[in-house]
Amino acid sequence: MIMNQVTTIIDSDKCIGCGLCISVCPANTLSLRDGKACVTGDESIQCGHCAAICPENAIQVGALDPSLTCTTFEEQADWLNFGASDIQHLVRLMRSRRSCRNYSQKTVPREILTDLIKIGISAPSGSNSQGWTFTVLQDQKSLMTFGRYIMDYYKSLNRMAESFPLRLLSYVLSKDELGKYYRNYYAKVKEGIQEFEEKGTDRLFHGATAAILVGGNTKISFSAQEDALLASQNILLAAHAMGLGTCLIGFAVEAMKRDPSIKKHFNIPVHENIYAVIGIGYPKEKYQTVAGRKPVKIRYFDPIDSEG
Ligand SMILES: Cc1cc2nc3c(=O)[nH]c(=O)nc-3n(C[C@H](O)[C@H](O)[C@H](O)COP(=O)(O)O)c2cc1C
Ligand code: SF4
Repeated sequence: MIMNQVTTIIDSDKCIGCGLCISVCPANTLSLRDGKACVTGDESIQCGHCAAICPENAIQVGALDPSLTCTTFEEQADWLNFGASDIQHLVRLMRSRRSCRNYSQKTVPREILTDLIKIGISAPSGSNSQGWTFTVLQDQKSLMTFGRYIMDYYKSLNRMAESFPLRLLSYVLSKDELGKYYRNYYAKVKEGIQEFEEKGTDRLFHGATAAILVGGNTKISFSAQEDALLASQNILLAAHAMGLGTCLIGFAVEAMKRDPSIKKHFNIPVHENIYAVIGIGYPKEKYQTVAGRKPVKIRYFDPIDSEG
């Protein structure tokens, strides 16, 4: 666990010694002394569970801001009990989210993009490190600049993939990476680049008017990628609820991974990796039904079978 300094303050006048804060603390930061909760550890993951569970509102965790302060909708700040949310509505929202590939020209206000990020960070993170980072491209012009850097990367990758000797070398040295790219993506990427250059068709972001680049600070988190992707899923769902379409752009993530110079153009530090690029905009089309999924295979481990 990555620990932080303790910023927990307990009002002993309010504390009734119920011990709830101690039972939910994952870091043994608190204990009961003379019937009152006290900070006895010198480290904390600053998760805020103690403050959230206290029936007397006796605890504050200085590092945390308990409210979201979203500006584009009215937030219901109170905690929702286990089983108290509408599962039908939640599942319907999850199944209705679609990857959007046709957007209108309408731009997404900055306040909405900010609120999406605030919603994103309610996701869990390893050791509560919250090492996620967000870079917002707020308009199509910035998105096109970004797109050109991505395209430059794929142009040079395509040039390499065209070379048979390089594909052979890749077969020997890197598990046929270049060959796989050549067989699966080369032709489509070439076509996409050509279409952009000749007609200006945006096959990378599908005409999205904004993007959020979700990254992670590898200096402060061991789970930067997982954390960033969990926050991203929150953003995708919230965006749908706010009337927006989204699409994850894996091609952009791959290019940024392979060509770190792209990050530099957007002032993203070296120790930050980008794990998701979310294209965002107002969708042009509506769906009639939800899309299905392939039947899921579930492996149930049976302890009795495993003994035999
Ligand atoms: C990691 C990841 C990368 C993706 N990259 C792209 C992409 O570069 N371009 C694109 O149009 N869609 C991309 N998608 C969207 C998937 O194609 C889409 O999620 C899938 O077809 C299922 O459709 P749905 O999102 O509407 O349920 C990506 C999705 C994921 C999870
Ligand atoms: S949860 Fe609140 S009231 Fe209960 S022991 Fe902790 S500080 Fe005291």
